[in-house]
Amino acid sequence: MVSRIAALLLSGAALVQVQAQSLPTPTDLIGTWNSKANSTMTGSSFYDPVNEKFTEPKHPGISYSFSSDGNFEEAYYRAVANPQEPKCPKGIIQWQHGSFEKLSDGSLKLHPIKVDGRQLYSDPCSFKSAVYTRYNASETFKRYEVVTDAYHNIPRLNLYKFDGSPLMPLYLAMSPPSMLPTTTLNPLTTQTATANKVKRGELPLNHEVVYKRTPGATRADQWWWFGVFLTAGGSVLYFFF
Ligand SMILES: *[C@@H]1O[C@H](CO)[C@@H](O)[C@H](O)[C@H]1NC(C)=O
Ligand SMILES: *[C@@H]1O[C@H](CO)[C@@H](O)[C@H](O)[C@H]1NC(C)=O
Repeated sequence: MVSRIAALLLSGAALVQVQAQSLPTPTDLIGTWNSKANSTMTGSSFYDPVNEKFTEPKHPGISYSFSSDGNFEEAYYRAVANPQEPKCPKGIIQWQHGSFEKLSDGSLKLHPIKVDGRQLYSDPCSFKSAVYTRYNASETFKRYEVVTDAYHNIPRLNLYKFDGSPLMPLYLAMSPPSMLPTTTLNPLTTQTATANKVKRGELPLNHEVVYKRTPGATRADQWWWFGVFLTAGGSVLYFFF
């Protein structure tokens, strides 16, 4: 009898171990971590939620911030080279934030606030428009490590994707982190029901200009947009012509 109870308890313990547990927020992650060019960085200099405006960083890159109260923010700016038309790079800008947790198996899980994330996709030579949409992507990193970079002599964060492959190395840029408010910024979901009747001139002011290219940028003539407000499948889309 006793051994049967022991066996049941053991199998119960084994079950618990299969499910990775959430651990206290790790302190070694706290800060803003930028890729090498150090010009893409989370916070208000990248995304302005009040005016729905991205400021294009000088160089492509990525940035992650983690706060001591378990929140994250993420900024991506990727230029996609176009070998056929070198003058026509595509650009993707993505921003999201939410909460994160470290699990007992060493992994990191990022849970974005779905209504807050934004993406701007531009392909100026193929399309006249850039597409500004909501964006949310839950992320799992299999593991991470914080080391001191021998060459730069600053803390470096190595994040490993779900499949174990490394993300580009990130370097500590700010501590405490540079982050926008961590609460929901854009509770717009309930407004989408009426949005398909909204014409451009009737847009709420804070959605009219959602993207401005930084002054002096190359090919500035190819990169300008104004907004039209559409809905598709219940989500908000902004098109820029
Ligand atoms: C989150 O992303 C998924 C997948 O792209 C999409 O289907 C869903 O509508 C998004 N949610 C919100 C609130 O935007
Ligand atoms: C990266 O940029 C931030 C903000 O401008 C600055 O404080 C930091 O020193 C920079 N880090 C490196 C390694 O250049």
